Amino acid sequence: MAAVDELLSQQGSNPPVSTGLMQFRSVFIAVFLGTSLILAAVLINRARPAVETGQPSADFVRATGRCASCHMQETGGIVHQFERSVHAGRGVTCLDCHQVLDRQEPLDHRGFTITVMPTSQNCAACHATQYDQFLRSRHAAPAWAAVLGSTGFSEDVIAASELLHPGAVRRAPNPLALLEGASASEVGCQGCHDIGRPNLDGSVGKCTECHSAHSASVSLAREPATCGQCHMGPDHSQLEIYNESKHGVLFNSQRASQNLHADPRTLSTADMSVPTCATCHMSGLDGMGFTHDVTERLSWWLFAPISERRPTYLQGQAEMKTLCQKCHTAPRVEAFYEAAETVVTSTNEKVQAAMDLMAELADEGLITAEPFDASIDFVFFDLWHYYGRTAKHGAFMGGADFVQWHGNYELLAKMVEMEELAAEMRGLR
Ligand code: HEC
Ligand code: HEC
Ligand code: HEC
Ligand code: HEC
Ligand code: HEC
Ligand code: HEC
Ligand code: HEC
Ligand code: HEC
Repeated sequence: MAAVDELLSQQGSNPPVSTGLMQFRSVFIAVFLGTSLILAAVLINRARPAVETGQPSADFVRATGRCASCHMQETGGIVHQFERSVHAGRGVTCLDCHQVLDRQEPLDHRGFTITVMPTSQNCAACHATQYDQFLRSRHAAPAWAAVLGSTGFSEDVIAASELLHPGAVRRAPNPLALLEGASASEVGCQGCHDIGRPNLDGSVGKCTECHSAHSASVSLAREPATCGQCHMGPDHSQLEIYNESKHGVLFNSQRASQNLHADPRTLSTADMSVPTCATCHMSGLDGMGFTHDVTERLSWWLFAPISERRPTYLQGQAEMKTLCQKCHTAPRVEAFYEAAETVVTSTNEKVQAAMDLMAELADEGLITAEPFDASIDFVFFDLWHYYGRTAKHGAFMGGADFVQWHGNYELLAKMVEMEELAAEMRGLR
């Protein structure tokens, strides 16, 4: 007790001690006087880069105490989020995350030198494996490039991404984003696609999209709503599909018995007997390795107008099926995949028919090569981008209503609409 008080009393120009600070002290008292002191120190030091392990831990306690006691008055919410985090329990401090790294702008701040907005580089300093896996996924550079092309990325990043995802980063900005203008793109498109943004320090992406900054939590990342911040709406209705699937309904009714806090390294079907988005796309269930490469377990490019098999088709499908088989029998899983693949094939045929019609109209000089300058451009875009995708996603994630009424029925209706528009254009010729 004395040691902690001493550290906190060395804070110089302190604001008055608040209730919050008292709570904050109790966190530290628990951490530093607990029997886990030595074990914790070993764990922390193992995870820290060498530059930090060289420093005495009392400095870190003092640093966090000073940041936190002042910020309790200024931005109390941040301190309370941090207090609840695994990081606080493990002795990671404010300054650990806010320290200035390579190519970051230093800010002189109340006797400390900090970086104002830590990036994935700051997280990667302690979580290099997660960062490397993330970089391999389409959540990294490809997500940003889908909107703004390769703008902002270094040649190294572009070259590395192109090896894994040819054409996904070295490409032009999206024509729809350009047409809608900068404000729509910045606050709209980029609000989701910044998961893979180029940071000024040369690192890529935002870990906090799934973990948040100050609670940095695994349970948050396992919530369907977290993925659903971006994976929702008619063009990628994954959240809606999930919520109507047996998995989603079960999760919503049994969530109290699901252990969302379980350690990723030992996550078992006893912790999570019902899958969420993260379980299928990321978790290491019952001994499988967990991954930050959400691309790893996929076998088709479902988002494309005409879906083709990925080069990693066999491996991706084998990994996902291994996961399904932690809870289901192999014949059931095979039957499910076969049925879903027939939806992909038939959707491809329907979208191809619409594409053929667009090509004929272009040949006849009735539409231009410019995107989105005629009504039929929009009907065609909705046909594949909303309804084609929805049918395919519904088939792979257990959403019958999305395969049928929000998928195939709409595909039929949009095709009729396109034919009527084409007939009209041809009649006016
Ligand atoms: C003596 C008080 C005090 C201390 C100590 C202090 N801060 Fe601050 N900090 C502030 C105030 C006041 C602001 C401005 C808040 C506002 O604009 O609402 C601020 C702002 C910030 C910002 C945002 C800066 C910006 O330009 O947007 C960050 C990040 C920050 N502090 C982190 C830290 C960290 C990390 C520490 C410890 C290493 C720390 N602070 C220590 C008082 C303090
Ligand atoms: C796990 C790393 C981490 C820790 C620990 C951490 N921060 Fe931060 N902090 C961030 C990141 C990342 C951001 C940038 C915001 C974002 O990405 O959401 C940030 C932003 C901030 C901001 C500006 C946020 C705003 O909304 O205006 C302040 C102030 C701040 N941190 C203060 C603190 C204080 C005080 C502590 C300790 C109590 C602390 N941080 C601990 C990672 C961290
Ligand atoms: C100074 C080192 C350090 C930094 C910087 C750091 N972490 Fe951590 N992080 C740790 C340690 C230590 C743990 C304890 C978990 C373990 O490895 O056993 C941890 C745990 C986590 C966990 C698991 C939490 C849980 O609920 O189980 C997440 C998620 C996480 N960190 C994300 C981040 C993110 C995001 C950033 C950047 C904004 C970040 N970390 C920055 C050291 C760090
Ligand atoms: C901040 C927005 C955002 C959040 C949060 C988010 N994603 Fe994504 N996700 C995207 C974007 C954007 C893409 C498209 C990237 C591309 O192909 O250009 C994507 C793509 C994907 C893909 C397809 C990858 C591929 O190779 O085609 C999967 C699977 C995925 N996300 C799963 C998840 C899961 C699971 C979560 C939650 C744990 C999640 N996402 C959270 C924005 C997000
Ligand atoms: C609500 C969040 C959100 C918004 C807003 C958003 N997207 Fe997306 N976008 C996603 C997600 C999630 C995916 C992944 C879909 C999938 O894999 O099924 C995606 C996929 C894409 C793709 C296909 C993947 C690729 O790499 O080619 C493109 C292109 C794209 N978005 C461009 C845009 C543009 C341009 C805008 C703005 C006009 C925009 N998005 C707005 C979330 C969003
Ligand atoms: C698409 C959402 C998403 C993004 C983006 C994301 N994570 Fe995670 N992260 C998760 C999920 C989900 C888990 C838990 C996996 C599981 O269920 O076992 C996790 C787990 C972790 C853990 C805990 C590992 C452990 O052994 O305890 C750390 C640390 C972590 N992430 C760091 C990061 C860092 C660093 C970044 C940025 C490079 C990042 N994450 C980006 C979703 C995400
Ligand atoms: C029961 C497991 C399971 C759950 C739960 C699940 N998915 Fe999926 N997801 C799949 C399968 C299987 C595919 C198709 C894989 C393939 O291409 O082989 C898929 C495909 C996707 C894709 C399409 C990538 C592309 O090519 O366009 C995205 C994005 C995605 N899921 C995100 C999510 C999100 C977000 C959630 C939660 C709201 C979720 N998934 C829940 C199993 C699941
Ligand atoms: C963590 C366990 C878990 C995982 C992983 C999992 N499921 Fe399930 N799934 C369930 C549970 C629980 C049910 C409800 C039936 C039951 O109680 O056995 C279910 C039901 C289903 C159903 C029946 C839906 C209905 O309407 O009756 C299908 C189909 C299905 N899952 C497919 C899959 C596929 C495909 C995968 C892998 C992509 C998968 N599941 C992954 C737990 C899981």
